[in-house]
This record gives sequence, C-alpha cells and structure tokens, in this order.
Amino acid sequence: MEQWKEISDTVKKQKLVPFFDCAYQGFASGDAVRDAAAVRLFVEDGHLISLVQSFSKNFGLYGQRVGALSVVGANEEEAKRVVSQMKMVIRPMYSNPPRHGARLVTTILEDPRLTAEFIEQCRGMADRINTMRTSLHNALGAVGSTKNWDHITKQIGMFAYSGLAKEQVMKMREKHHVYCTADGRISMAVSFCRRKASVIYCNWNLKHCLSVYRVSPRVMSTTLRTPSTTFPSKSSQLFL
Ligand SMILES: Cc1ncc(COP(=O)(O)O)c(C=O)c1O
Repeated sequence: MEQWKEISDTVKKQKLVPFFDCAYQGFASGDAVRDAAAVRLFVEDGHLISLVQSFSKNFGLYGQRVGALSVVGANEEEAKRVVSQMKMVIRPMYSNPPRHGARLVTTILEDPRLTAEFIEQCRGMADRINTMRTSLHNALGAVGSTKNWDHITKQIGMFAYSGLAKEQVMKMREKHHVYCTADGRISMAVSFCRRKASVIYCNWNLKHCLSVYRVSPRVMSTTLRTPSTTFPSKSSQLFL
C-alpha cells in the first residue's frame, strides 16, 4: 500500500485524473474487499476518481456484458452534470444496457448475506487459480523444462504472462490447438495437464519440440491435475 500512497501523492501533485480499471476484483488476493484497497485509498485522499468495473469474471457473468462506471464528483451538483454528460455519450452508443446481469449483481451487492457469500466464493476461485499456477509450474518441470518458470507462480490474478512470443503462440494454436492471447497471456482458470505443459515448453524452446512432444501427447497425468471442483468453467477451457 505504500506504493499506492506514493502514486496517490504524485497524482495529486501533478494534478492528474485517476482512472481505475478493475476487472478481476477478488482474484488478486482472494479477498474482494482487500483488492479494492487502492481505489478506497484514492477516494480517502480526496481524488475525484473514475472507476470501471467488470463483473464478467468475478460474478461469472461473461455472457451478460455487465460492469459499472463510477465517477466521484466534487459535490452533488458536479455529479449531476457528469451524469448528464454521460447520458449524452451513452444515448447514441447503446442507449439502454441489458438489465438482467446488472440486476443479478445488484441483488447480491445489496444483500449483506449474499455479498459475504460472493466474497467467500471469490476466495475459492482465487485459491483454485493459484493451485493451477503451481500445477502448470510443476508440469513444466515434469516434462523436462529447465527454464525458470517462477513468474507463473509469482504473478497474481486470473492470468499468467508466460513470456511466449507471438510466433510461438501462433504455433501452439495452429499445431496443437492450445490457445492463449498473442502476447502470451494464459488464463489460469483452467486445468493444466502434462500435454499442455509440454506444448508450452516445446514452443518456448523450439529446438526441443520434437523430443518433448513425442513423449507426452498421450500422457494426461492425473497426478498433475488438481480436481477442478470449484470452477470448471467450460468457456474458460477455450483459453488454454
Ligand atoms: C484489465 C481488463 N479490463 C477490462 C476488461 C473488460 O472486461 P469485460 O470483458 O467485462 O468488458 C478486461 C477483459 O478481459 C480486462 O482484462
């Protein structure tokens, strides 16, 4: 938090406008309240922040396109003016958003018991993601990689930046049907097995490709797989 405090002071000194993008609240520390600490600090420090939140991941509402834009005004009058400006922007853009997902989130966040349940379930998802980090890390070692993959277990949140370059990602996609974004960002919300690890490894180090891939494609190691009891999202399987 000291670093956030420093950022807050700098933003104030330089009269910058702070804008937060919060898409994975609860997945970083496992505690949804704690993950909002930086935003709260900025508000306490008197910043007039803007905040965009996505509820796609932490509420499991990807298909509903639900999120929120919050802007803190200096006073009620200013807040009203901001809302009025926003309505002018929104009107020709999407006019009325779909309501179903937003109502689900509202129902949960307006009820202390449901909110507590949501926070608890976020912790479950974060724990599982961390287990998957260890699982992939171990699997990479098991298929023979001597590269240091500690960044996979050190990073937080839903993704791991694997370090794979675009060319390597494309090869994984085309040859092995293992998917991640072009910048090498892997979703950690899915189960890892030896085959996926070997594909990542062999694409990392192409000269080992043949030898490693030959030994592993049929080996779906159950010991390396953690039971996906909490959040076996089908759609997330698309991304590795
Ligand atoms: C950092 C970040 N912000 C915003 C978004 C957008 O969220 P949504 O897909 O719910 O619009 C994403 C989506 O992946 C994201 O990673």
